[in-house]
Amino acid sequence: MFLRDFYADIDFCSFISVWFYEEMKHHLVLRKYLERVGEVIEEAELPRLRLSFAEGPAIETLTMHYCGEQRLAHWYTAFSANAPEPVLRQIFKVLAADELRHGAAYAKYLRKAVRNKPEVLPAILRMALWMIRTTNDNPKHPTTITEPSVVSLLEDPHYIRRMLNMYLPGRDHEAPVQRRILALMSELSGTKLSSVRDLLSHIRVVEGTAAAVAV
Ligand SMILES: [Fe+2]
Repeated sequence: MFLRDFYADIDFCSFISVWFYEEMKHHLVLRKYLERVGEVIEEAELPRLRLSFAEGPAIETLTMHYCGEQRLAHWYTAFSANAPEPVLRQIFKVLAADELRHGAAYAKYLRKAVRNKPEVLPAILRMALWMIRTTNDNPKHPTTITEPSVVSLLEDPHYIRRMLNMYLPGRDHEAPVQRRILALMSELSGTKLSSVRDLLSHIRVVEGTAAAVAV
């Protein structure tokens, strides 16, 4: 999907090849862990989880993944703090650090996009707002929001929901995710955005400006 939607951006495609390699390491280490505790995943069953996505606007995909990496790092950090044994805690600690590093790379490409084409800013802010609005029961991540989604194809589609309610109960746990997303949106906008409400008002401002320029 990335190689198709970012066909003309060779630098980004190079990054995506490294990103894919690292995400595969996550898959392999978790699979190896499951095998050690007696859960064998049949490789032949995995292709049914593969999905093809319709072409999407590159800037929104980029923003969605920036936010998704922040959220996944947050989940993995919680799993690493509370997992039932130390090897799993260490695995999730490493995975969380990787996801934050991926997030930092996506942030770099978002900065470059705004520098090259400032008119993409409203689309970035809108997608960030949409991604920030999430719940444990309907968590927003690239693997949950398409129709069908990767998670909806799992044997137990409610597994993530249960994990989140167990490891991150309540509604306010998302504060670190919001803070990191708002920090980048502030930087891209050149305006301090401290809350979701600030983000919403700023979207109205930049959309008003964009409409005025169009007229
Ligand atoms: Fe990642």
